Amino acid sequence: MGTTDEYTFRTFSAAVAADGSAEPDTAVWLDAERRGFHDNRLDSAGTAAAAARLVSDGRQLTGAYLTDDSPVATFASYTATLNVGAADLLPTHLISNVTVRPTHRRRGLLRAMMTENLRRASDAGFPLAALTVSEATIYRRFGFGVASTVSHVTVSTDERFRMLVPPAGRSEYIDLPELARLAPAVFARFHARNPGSVDRHAATWPRNSGELTDSGQPDLSVYAAAHYDDSGDPDGYVSYRSRENGSPRTLEVLDLVAATDSAYLGLWDFLASIDLTGRVDWETAPAADPLRWALADWRSVTQTFVEDWLWLRVLDVPAAFEARGYLPGTSGEIVLRVTDALGYAAGTFRLRVADARATVTRVDPAPDLTPDLSLDAPELGSLYLGGVDPLTLFAAGRIAEHTPGAARRLGALLAPVAPVYGTTHF
Ligand SMILES: CC(C)(COP(=O)(O)OP(=O)(O)OC[C@H]1O[C@@H](n2cnc3c(N)ncnc32)[C@H](O)[C@@H]1OP(=O)(O)O)[C@@H](O)C(=O)NCCC(=O)NCCS
Repeated sequence: MGTTDEYTFRTFSAAVAADGSAEPDTAVWLDAERRGFHDNRLDSAGTAAAAARLVSDGRQLTGAYLTDDSPVATFASYTATLNVGAADLLPTHLISNVTVRPTHRRRGLLRAMMTENLRRASDAGFPLAALTVSEATIYRRFGFGVASTVSHVTVSTDERFRMLVPPAGRSEYIDLPELARLAPAVFARFHARNPGSVDRHAATWPRNSGELTDSGQPDLSVYAAAHYDDSGDPDGYVSYRSRENGSPRTLEVLDLVAATDSAYLGLWDFLASIDLTGRVDWETAPAADPLRWALADWRSVTQTFVEDWLWLRVLDVPAAFEARGYLPGTSGEIVLRVTDALGYAAGTFRLRVADARATVTRVDPAPDLTPDLSLDAPELGSLYLGGVDPLTLFAAGRIAEHTPGAARRLGALLAPVAPVYGTTHF
């Protein structure tokens, strides 16, 4: 790997000027970031709107510069809440917008930006850092592990589609302003209900309603519907577009958010009832999808891919595991030895769970102390939410058991309070 000595790194808050235009630093950073992700170039109004979204998220932008011009690498971080299965949502350090120009790759720019950014996050006291990725091979080396997954599903909505039990409530088409009005409150309920959910950022909403597209033109093919509970309150919504090519005609779900089980099934019933279509595709369905179990024909649902979704990195083991929720009635203790190339999660820890709360203490290394399990930081991140059973990681050779049955015991301690599921990509 080359050296990063010749580059200057600058971190600044995303900013817009008083007249609403993007501040120059933010504008050139955005240009560089968009090129890295193959997004269309923006005109000045588009840049101003994109900058305003970065500002609204509170994003801190980092650039690596060779000259004072455009950054050759981009990186951003901001704070949003993560549902960790406890009553309180946990403010979490989120990393995003990572690009390095191909002409400056493999010289350590990502490593330099990541290590500095994680150091700042740790200094600021964040127990966890998180990201979603475009490639699954990059971030393990920095201590991130896959903590939640989503399913890509293709659902046949022909005459075979029938719910075994009709879902409560009703669905109705809504226009996009109404979607914008009700979506945040519905999402807030979803977010409070699902461990693994990350709060949404400013670009999520316009993207899911078709207002914001890669081409810069609104997608007028997007329609939306809401689900209402028996007392008439909205408890779910879906936005979708129809794909003209292909047979049968297919609906592509952009966003489906349900605050209750009946809203989830009710929205599927609605999608299946749409005439002149025979299939629905969705790429962020829950890994533990109740849909298949709700249908008369199990084979209506095809899972085409299981995608790694949220990647977590534990920065402070006691703080992270004490903030997490535990199933009522869970009790027990286990000793974990964690290795961590960056140091943050390294050590031997006793995790004690009682009355749905954990106490975590650092145990001094002693020659006669044998941990129950040993693992590396990415595996700790993967296990944190309970999104993967430790037995699965043990079978994959990713964690070592020193006490027989320890992986099973850890699985019981970390059982999630509800299925681990989030849909926010950042
Ligand atoms: C991925 C990317 C950010 C890497 O940047 P970079 O500055 O070349 O990375 P570094 O030189 O700091 O390399 C850091 C480490 O990651 C490894 N690495 C970098 N890119 C990788 C990739 N795509 N797959 C696997 N490993 C990768 C390097 O080999 C190096 O490993 P080491 O530290 O064990 O030697 C860059 O290639 C890029 O911009 N890609 C396109 C956009 C993208 O995918 N962004 C990620 C969004 S989630």
